[in-house]
Amino acid sequence: MMLSKYARSDLIDAARTAAKHAYAPYSDYQVGAALLFDDGAIITGTNVENASYGLALCAETVAIAQALGEGRRGGLIAVAVTGPADKGDGEPITPCGRCRQVLNELAQLGGTDPVVLCVGTSEVREVTLSALLPHAFGPAHLD
Ligand code: THU
Repeated sequence: MMLSKYARSDLIDAARTAAKHAYAPYSDYQVGAALLFDDGAIITGTNVENASYGLALCAETVAIAQALGEGRRGGLIAVAVTGPADKGDGEPITPCGRCRQVLNELAQLGGTDPVVLCVGTSEVREVTLSALLPHAFGPAHLD
């Protein structure tokens, strides 16, 4: 599905706003994720770290958990991911491998291939989830 430029910038704004509440005291790397559904709803998440460092949850995973916990089982059409503006080389942030798999769960449940807006300093890279995670294992394999 094509996203209008308004939908795109609303979704990126939602991810940036969410990132303000990131709990990232250990990495100081605040991530925001925003999920857009086919009914227009946006569900966001931030990374949530832990004093036991390895237990950190990524923003995308937190957003997906929220969506599933609200009863959503499909309809995921786009995802925006933002990182802190003052870190790294300005390259677009892409979901980590685990998050790609977690995003795929809801995508495959609803039979969609969401576009992922990977936000950088001067570029938003748009890539489909299936390009980020080809030949994904998902719920359909268990039917
Ligand atoms: N992080 C995310 O929230 N999403 C990603 O896709 C990449 C990494 C978080 C995890 C950790 O809290 C911080 O960024 C630094 O790795």
